[in-house]
Amino acid sequence: MKYIKDLENLSEKRVLLRLDLNVPIKNGIITDQTRIDKVLPVINFLIKKRSKILIISHVGRPKGKINKELSLKPICENLEKKINQKVGLIRNDILGLNRDDLFKNSKEQIIFLENIRFFIEEEKNDANFSKHLSKLVDIFVNDAFSCSHRAHASISKITEFLPSYAGLQLEMEINALKKVTTDIKKPISCIIGGSKISTKIGIIKNLIPKFDNIIIVGGMANNILNYLGNPIGKSFKEGKCESIIDDIFKTSKNHSCKIVYPEDVAIGKSREDKAQIKELNEITNDDLILDIGPKTINRIKDTIENSKTVLWNGPAGYFENPSFALGSYEIAKKIVEKNKNESIYSIVGGGDTIAVLNQINVTDNFNFVSTAGGAFLEYLEGKELPGIKALN
Ligand code: 3PG
Repeated sequence: MKYIKDLENLSEKRVLLRLDLNVPIKNGIITDQTRIDKVLPVINFLIKKRSKILIISHVGRPKGKINKELSLKPICENLEKKINQKVGLIRNDILGLNRDDLFKNSKEQIIFLENIRFFIEEEKNDANFSKHLSKLVDIFVNDAFSCSHRAHASISKITEFLPSYAGLQLEMEINALKKVTTDIKKPISCIIGGSKISTKIGIIKNLIPKFDNIIIVGGMANNILNYLGNPIGKSFKEGKCESIIDDIFKTSKNHSCKIVYPEDVAIGKSREDKAQIKELNEITNDDLILDIGPKTINRIKDTIENSKTVLWNGPAGYFENPSFALGSYEIAKKIVEKNKNESIYSIVGGGDTIAVLNQINVTDNFNFVSTAGGAFLEYLEGKELPGIKALN
């Protein structure tokens, strides 16, 4: 792998910089800025080197359609303030852009392209699309470890058309995860939550042989509860997961890995509701499971108490509403307590999980905080991520 930090002459070089600025945005306001802060080193590095920086990122999953709510505009404005420098945003059709359309003003140094997932070609890893992007610049830098598990045009295919380099944050994340996965101390527990069920549920089976406990919370837990015959009301779940869950339980028995899932829950009639604690058999048709209940919290705390390493990706509930954030906060606090007396090694990953930690100001109390969620889990699985493979 080649690293951008080792490249000498970058002055006036046009750099296509792939970042993951997929930050939570509510009514046009960024509710957690961590992912923007984490890319400031690479941006400042390229500014110092006098490069021309063309930034690509996605936000959300617009599936090839323009969606104003998923525009990069608020992120652009936020970055502008952070680096105290003008940042352009190109909202035109990328396919109509020519090299000469960019950086016309010699003082202009940073330009964003609009959300790359507004283009269907991105997720298709389309060669013509990547080739077109490559003609706008001179080199490519991937500083988006957290989306390197996606074989997408601006992450994977693009490397076939440009000299390609690893960015500063990507290098740091890979080195940290490499160290963690080689020096690991047992018993080791992995907490998996969040709302991206389809991204994560297939990974669990492959993680089982490496862990003593796998704690399933968040959206995925609804699938487990339903599979075990519990009512889940109108809670969100992914379709056609039965055989995957079947495999999870069978594999866990073969490897003596304990699967921990909710024993009780906090429900609401809507996401804006107040939390009501229920036993699993009390859930009614109009209930939405939005957090774990107190018994489950205690069970998870016991598991953490008896672990030497804890990896955590994905909140336990709908933490955006403080009524349903308790499960995530309690998990965080227990890990921090164990970290303080140095009896645990803790790694946390993913945009939403970091947002939870920021809400209660404990981010600095973890041994390593990765910006990556899905990529973090796939890395732990032992997979070579498409974006990393492409750089290699
Ligand atoms: C993430 O938030 O994990 C990355 O931005 C990837 O997003 P995705 O799961 O929509 O591909």
